[in-house]
Amino acid sequence: MPLPFLPPPPSLDTLISTADKALRSVFAPARAARPSPATGPAPELTEAERRESGALMRVNHTGEVAAQALYHGQAFVARDVNTRNMLLHAAREETDHLAWCEARLSELQSRCSLLNPLWYAGSFAIGALAATFGDRASLGFVSETERQVEGHLNVHLTRLPPADSRSRAILEQMRTDEISHGAAARAAGGAELPAPVRILMKHTSRVMTHTAYWF
Ligand SMILES: [Fe+2]
Ligand SMILES: [Fe+2]
Repeated sequence: MPLPFLPPPPSLDTLISTADKALRSVFAPARAARPSPATGPAPELTEAERRESGALMRVNHTGEVAAQALYHGQAFVARDVNTRNMLLHAAREETDHLAWCEARLSELQSRCSLLNPLWYAGSFAIGALAATFGDRASLGFVSETERQVEGHLNVHLTRLPPADSRSRAILEQMRTDEISHGAAARAAGGAELPAPVRILMKHTSRVMTHTAYWF
């Protein structure tokens, strides 16, 4: 793995657009470019099922806030303009996921995590740190993140109440997209991350998903 490098100081334009993206990701309603996959009729859920789906979709919404922040942090530090553009393009695709989860949360009369600003800030810092190790490591970080998100979505697909077809349709499309984000990062030269980094990433996301389930 290459040694970390200190990026050159960002321009005022970069600082303003990064702050703008952060505020939009955390505080503004997300706007999807694609229609939500949740097209079927509203499922009949018991109160307990509605609460469980709400908690799970809150976790997924927080995961998407964190995904945006990781990509924004990595793009902020990326050396190569093509890498930066690829990261920002992927972040825009994640906006669809954010918007779909947000809409489903309100259908379930649930809410976003109160700690999303904290998760955005922490994930931005982690993304920026990963990118200081160079673009290949940064792309490897995307690949590993998406692999772990795929595993997480597989677990949530088994935990969702069986009747909740609308949440399930969203998670299935998200899983398809995350797999293709990971494949694109590997195709662009993403390096395999060392095992301790992969384990640390797993523990960090576990803290986030467990916290977002309740708060
Ligand atoms: Fe996503
Ligand atoms: Fe993704």
